[in-house]
Amino acid sequence: MTSGLAFMRSLRYSSYALLLRSCSRRNSFFPPNSLENQLLPEGSSSIFLIDLRSIRSHSNSGLFLFKAFSSLFDEATENIITGMRMLNSMRRGTQVIKPRIREILGRELPAELVNLLPKHWVRIGDVLILPLREELEPYKHRIAEVYAEVLGVKTVLRKGRISGEFRETNYEVLYGSDTVTVHVENGIKYKLDVARIMFSPANVKERVRMAKVARPGEMVVDMFAGIGHLSLPMAVHGGARVIAIEKSPYTFKFLVENIELNGVWDRMTAYNIDNREFPAENVADRVIMGYVVRTHEFIPKALSIAKDGAVIHYHNTVPERLMPEEPFRTFREIAREYGVEVEKLNELVIKRYAPGVWHVVVDVRVFK
Ligand SMILES: C[S@@+](CC[C@H](N)C(=O)[O-])C[C@H]1O[C@@H](n2cnc3c(N)ncnc32)[C@H](O)[C@@H]1O
Repeated sequence: MTSGLAFMRSLRYSSYALLLRSCSRRNSFFPPNSLENQLLPEGSSSIFLIDLRSIRSHSNSGLFLFKAFSSLFDEATENIITGMRMLNSMRRGTQVIKPRIREILGRELPAELVNLLPKHWVRIGDVLILPLREELEPYKHRIAEVYAEVLGVKTVLRKGRISGEFRETNYEVLYGSDTVTVHVENGIKYKLDVARIMFSPANVKERVRMAKVARPGEMVVDMFAGIGHLSLPMAVHGGARVIAIEKSPYTFKFLVENIELNGVWDRMTAYNIDNREFPAENVADRVIMGYVVRTHEFIPKALSIAKDGAVIHYHNTVPERLMPEEPFRTFREIAREYGVEVEKLNELVIKRYAPGVWHVVVDVRVFK
């Protein structure tokens, strides 16, 4: 009930719905003095807002909206529990080859290869990602076909590397052709092209955690938004206002679709720019830096976006020998160069990134 009320209050600050279109600042629908209008880069491809207040004025007492939102919050708690259960079942469920797969392929493959069939796989929507050993190369298409039939997916990809500035996947299509799917996790719909955009099952804990830490009405800036991996949970379950920045035009298209799919156009705005071009300073209560390998290069920008007292969720990859000092030590050093004091609130290991290297997130409060 309390969270429902708080959410209603936050609506006063997020009283606009998004209209998906591409246009310049001159013909945007932002109110003239709104934060969004001041931030909008001239001529950029973005999402624009239309005023929702007129729509809300139809529900005079607000009772209807209040009821709707308090039930939404109960559902959010439920979804978080579901997310946790999902992670556990994902861990357990991928340990065995389905007997039916073994039965079919056991008749077609040399006996010594049957034991090399993948015991682990990742399912994103109705697309399967299969790690396949070299020895199975001559049979890869038939293997993919059988996994697809037994597991009921439309497309099978061979697991490959994730690389480059946009952290793009480079997965070979083994079966089927349509690699775009909608994956539902923790009550959130993520539309993506699995062949080109990363979606790590190992990051589920962090996606669920972000849904819990966000507060209704607070301003979140997601500097590496992807398809909304971390910021959608904050807007959908946390009721936060989110500015989501994504540099890749291809990924940005899905981010926009996901905002629409999840019905959070009233509190999420997306920018197709390099986050270093984001023009606003001292605006965010919370900054998400969900990136790896080079995240430290973006610390000065995150510090400038954050308000005094804001929390920054700083991700990076860290060699084991530098833990536990890193990654906080680097963050603090860079912050001090900019005259900002920091306090470590929390630290979590997300996953193993490479042999001897871990993906870690530190929650840091900044004092400017
Ligand atoms: C690895 S994905 C992570 C998505 C999400 N933050 C998460 O942690 O699950 C990082 C995203 O940041 C985007 N990106 C990389 N450099 C960027 C920059 N300078 N400005 C904005 N987006 C950037 C990439 O295109 C990619 O979609």
